[in-house]
Amino acid sequence: MHFKNLKYEQADGVCTITINRPDKMNALNIETISELGFAISASEKNHDIIGIIITGEGPKAFVAGADIAEFSEFSADAGREMAHKGHIVFDSIERCTKPVIAAVNGFALGGGCELAMACHIRIASTNAKFGQPEVNLGIIPGYGGTQRLVRLVGKAKATELLLTGDAIGADEAKVFGLVNHVTEPDQLMPKALEILSKVAKKSPLAVDKILELVNAYYEKEGNGFELEINEFSNCFDTADFHEGVQAFLEKRKANFTGN
Ligand code: COA
Repeated sequence: MHFKNLKYEQADGVCTITINRPDKMNALNIETISELGFAISASEKNHDIIGIIITGEGPKAFVAGADIAEFSEFSADAGREMAHKGHIVFDSIERCTKPVIAAVNGFALGGGCELAMACHIRIASTNAKFGQPEVNLGIIPGYGGTQRLVRLVGKAKATELLLTGDAIGADEAKVFGLVNHVTEPDQLMPKALEILSKVAKKSPLAVDKILELVNAYYEKEGNGFELEINEFSNCFDTADFHEGVQAFLEKRKANFTGN
């Protein structure tokens, strides 16, 4: 299977999807999100695949967020469409009937942290960094981060991370339950494969049901995901959004006015 922004490899029942835009820190542009949706759906339908690993190309980044340059001129409607499409793809990862492991090999910021959180299990290399820095750009997370971060690390730590935009290292992420394991960089893929090889010996029906029921635990929660899409879209009508993204693109500090 060939993609422009992903590498898609299949070996011994495992599909490895590598986000492949290393010169842009593997930032997720709209095309990459749509390719990712296609890749997940294809591997879910493929009976030879028992599990999926998602990782990033190169030694520095898993994914450093949504592509800021691409959305810098978006209207509120375009922002809504962007968030909506991302939610569909990330939901499809979370609801995948086969285990999806994020092998986090560096920066997992913004959409990268959200992508990792949509996966069922996260393994981080010692150089991984997790955070939701959208607030620095005058926006909020738009790919499920406001909801999944609270679920994974609890309200207090999630609120701090979302408000400050601070990134945390792999060890701290493990303390807060954001990652399952921390490994040396060269042990990241072996650890992911080790977990999938254990799951491969179990009944696929039982695996499917467990994944479904773990998700079911959260299904009675409110409409936070829908609210996130609305509020993300509203951000695109603000002066602070334009100031925030321009400051990033011009490599300077943003001067927010609250408008
Ligand atoms: N969107 C678009 N481009 C991005 C990007 C993103 N989220 N993250 C990094 N890039 C690009 C940079 O603009 C730069 O491009 P250039 O070489 O054309 O100038 C390239 O990737 C390398 O990034 P750079 O910032 O030079 O690397 P660094 O090692 O100094 O810093 C980060 C790495 C991840 C800390 C920094 O790139 C960063 O803060 N990225 C944005 C994170 C973010 O806010 N994500 C949330 C988006 S909603």
